[in-house]
Amino acid sequence: MIALGCDHGGYDLMQEVIAYLEEKKVPYKNFGTDSKASCDYPVFGKNVAMAVANKECEFGILICGTGIGISMAANKVAGVRAALCHDCFSAEATRQHNNANVLCMGGRVVGPGLALKIVEIFLNTEFSNDDRHIRRISMLEN
Ligand code: RB5
Repeated sequence: MIALGCDHGGYDLMQEVIAYLEEKKVPYKNFGTDSKASCDYPVFGKNVAMAVANKECEFGILICGTGIGISMAANKVAGVRAALCHDCFSAEATRQHNNANVLCMGGRVVGPGLALKIVEIFLNTEFSNDDRHIRRISMLEN
């Protein structure tokens, strides 16, 4: 299950992500926002992060205008490793090295073609399970 959240700056791109997940038959839970009306990204970042932290959802995808504010919000929640990715290399590396569990993007930064490729890579790349990466991730929590 993928937890989804966005603000007004990420709303349009999130509709593309939802269409992609539906086409691929990937289950998701949408935490909003549900319109382009101005709203506060910390609310959605926190709600998605909580759903990932409490294991209701395996991964989260968060989108605001830049991806920055909503990633800051998500990373305040213990157990969440939110990664802001606007390229395919970062999306792959953050799964392999950081075991990132939340993907953040900026709806005003990337177009839908690149964004959906980033989503595909993020959701389909496994954590390396290398000792050094496990050690470094555990250091983030302490
Ligand atoms: C909203 O205008 C914008 O500030 C927000 O979407 C995001 O970019 C914040 O980091």
